[in-house]
Amino acid sequence: MTAPLVTRVAKADAAAVADAARVLAASGLVAFPTETVYGLGADATDGRAVARVYQAKGRPAFNPLIVHVADLNAAQGLGRFDADAARLAAAFWPGPLTLVLAKTAHCPVADLATAGLDTVAVRMPDHHVARDILAAFGKPVVAPSANRSGHLSPTTADHVLADLGGRIDLIVDGGATPVGIESTIVGCLGEPVLLRPGGLPRAAIERTLGRKLADAPAAGTDDDAPLAPGMLASHYAPRTPLRLNASRVEPGEALLAFGPTPAEGAGHANSVLNLSERGDLIEAAANLFSQLRALDAAGAGVIAVMPIPANGLGEAINDRLARAAAPR
Ligand code: TXA
Ligand code: MG
Repeated sequence: MTAPLVTRVAKADAAAVADAARVLAASGLVAFPTETVYGLGADATDGRAVARVYQAKGRPAFNPLIVHVADLNAAQGLGRFDADAARLAAAFWPGPLTLVLAKTAHCPVADLATAGLDTVAVRMPDHHVARDILAAFGKPVVAPSANRSGHLSPTTADHVLADLGGRIDLIVDGGATPVGIESTIVGCLGEPVLLRPGGLPRAAIERTLGRKLADAPAAGTDDDAPLAPGMLASHYAPRTPLRLNASRVEPGEALLAFGPTPAEGAGHANSVLNLSERGDLIEAAANLFSQLRALDAAGAGVIAVMPIPANGLGEAINDRLARAAAPR
C-alpha cells in the first residue's frame, strides 16, 4: 500500500497553472477541469506516472486512456490523421471530441497509456484552464475522468476531492465544467466509427463527414468497460503463448520475472525481463506492455510469467496477463 498523499486544492490562476505543470513534470497527478468533466492528468510519456493514474482511480483493468494536447501540431506527433480525422479536427477542435488514430512511428506516449495498442486516443480540450496547463507543461497529458473506478464522472472540484482526496497531488479548481458529460469518441482507422457517444452530438459529426458513422458494437460511456469494436482490436495480445504463475522456467521458454527472487531455471531462459526487481507494482505496470512486446519478439515457444501479487495495481496486471494468456 502507498501512504496517503496530501491533496492540495488551488483556485485556477496563473500560480496554480505553473504548479500543475511542475507536479506533472515530477510524475505527479493533477486533476483539472476540461469542458466535459474534470480529468485526472499525468505525463503521458511517463509510464510510472500513468501507472499512478490507474492506481489512484482503483481501476481493476488497464483500459487505454485519452491523451490531451494543446494544439494540432502536438496531436500530429502522436497519431496519423487520415482525411476524415483531419476534417473532424478542423471542425471540432478544441472541443468535446476524441479521435482514435493509428500511432505515429515515434509516438512518445507510454505503452501503458495505450494499453499496448498501436492506436492512440487524442483530444484537444476546449477549456482555458486545461489548455493553459497543457501549454505550460508542453507535453501530452493522459486524463481519464477524475473519479474512482465505478463512480460518476466529476463536474466540480468538490466531486474530485470527495473521490480522490489523499490519492492525488493537486486539484485545480476552475468551477463547474460546462458540458458535463465525456467527449464523443470516434475511431478514424478507416471507416469512421462512433466508439462512445458524448458531448458532441453524432449528427454534427455526420454532417461534417458527409456520411453516417458506423456503430461500435460495444459503444458505451463506462470507462471501466473497454471499447471492443470488432475492427479496432481493443486489447493488445502477444502471439507467443503465456504460462502464468510460473515458479520455474522450462527449456526454450522466455521469462517475464517479478521481484528480487529468481525463478528456478531462469539461467536457461531464452530471454528474461523483470517487471520490477524490487517488486514495485507501479514500476511493473509501467513496464508490462513494452516487456510483453519485447519477449513476444524474442522467438521463444512460451513466455513464462512469475506470480504477481493481487493487491493494488497487481489486480489490473493480473487481469491483463489473464487476457493475454487466454486461448484465441
Ligand atoms: O471528456 C473526456 O473524454 C474526459 C475528459 C477528462 O477529457 N476523459 C475521459 O477519459 O473520459 P477516460 O479515460 O475516462 O475514457 C477513455 C475512453 C475509454 O472508454 C477507452 O476505452 C477509450 O477512451 N480509448 C482510449 N484509447 C483508445 C484506443 N486506442 N482505442 C479505443 N478506445 C480507446
Ligand atoms: Mg470515466
